[in-house]
Amino acid sequence: METTLSDREDEARRAYDAVAETYAATVPALFAQDVRGRAMIAAFAELVAAAGAGPVADLGCGPGHVAAHLRDLGVPVFGVDVSPGTVAAARRAHPEIRFEVGTLGSLDAADGALGGVLSWWSLLHTPPAERPAVFAEWRRALAPGGYALLGFHVGDGQSQVTGAYGQAGVDYTIDLIQPEEVAAELAAAGFEREALMRLPGVRREQACLLVRKRREAVPVTSG
Ligand SMILES: C[S@@+](CC[C@H](N)C(=O)[O-])C[C@H]1O[C@@H](n2cnc3c(N)ncnc32)[C@H](O)[C@@H]1O
Repeated sequence: METTLSDREDEARRAYDAVAETYAATVPALFAQDVRGRAMIAAFAELVAAAGAGPVADLGCGPGHVAAHLRDLGVPVFGVDVSPGTVAAARRAHPEIRFEVGTLGSLDAADGALGGVLSWWSLLHTPPAERPAVFAEWRRALAPGGYALLGFHVGDGQSQVTGAYGQAGVDYTIDLIQPEEVAAELAAAGFEREALMRLPGVRREQACLLVRKRREAVPVTSG
């Protein structure tokens, strides 16, 4: 039987709750060295700020370091993560930013309320068949002309992670993503491509894809 998004969210919740402290103690320092990734986030922040359409939702925010970076770049931001332990770590590290337990496919935001959506290495826990529904939800919540930035591992199929973050018993599945495939899914959901960056990673290639919600075509009226 096909694994559902809800199964994968349960798995992610268990895993990231178990490693929340280790993750918070190690990954923010790696992000600080990720010059290329931060360059994409800087471009995203500048575009969102220029559009002036609302805050960024950092979906699968982890311990909040990327949200804090966006805040430092002058962008209003809040974070959402499926793991309560991770949200607690984010709140402790950045008490001035709002972090909530929630999921990337069901946003607590009114239609058109967001200026941007960030999914920074969090879509890898979503089964590919469920991505179109997730992208439709992002489209609903984004303002016309709002931006989405995705970071992910490039590849086909899945990879099993065992002993994540050096902790025995913390196992989960990740989906590898082909940039052209996810760009086509986003186009079908009403987004146009702004930029794609592909990078050699330590173990596998990585990609950052920036898209923008298409503005509705204005109907032409006569008279
Ligand atoms: C690899 S970590 C990335 C965290 C952070 N964005 C970063 O770049 O360090 C993946 C995060 O996504 C969260 N996550 C996984 N599936 C999710 C879902 N469906 N909704 C919300 N968060 C999710 C996990 O709990 C975890 O914190």
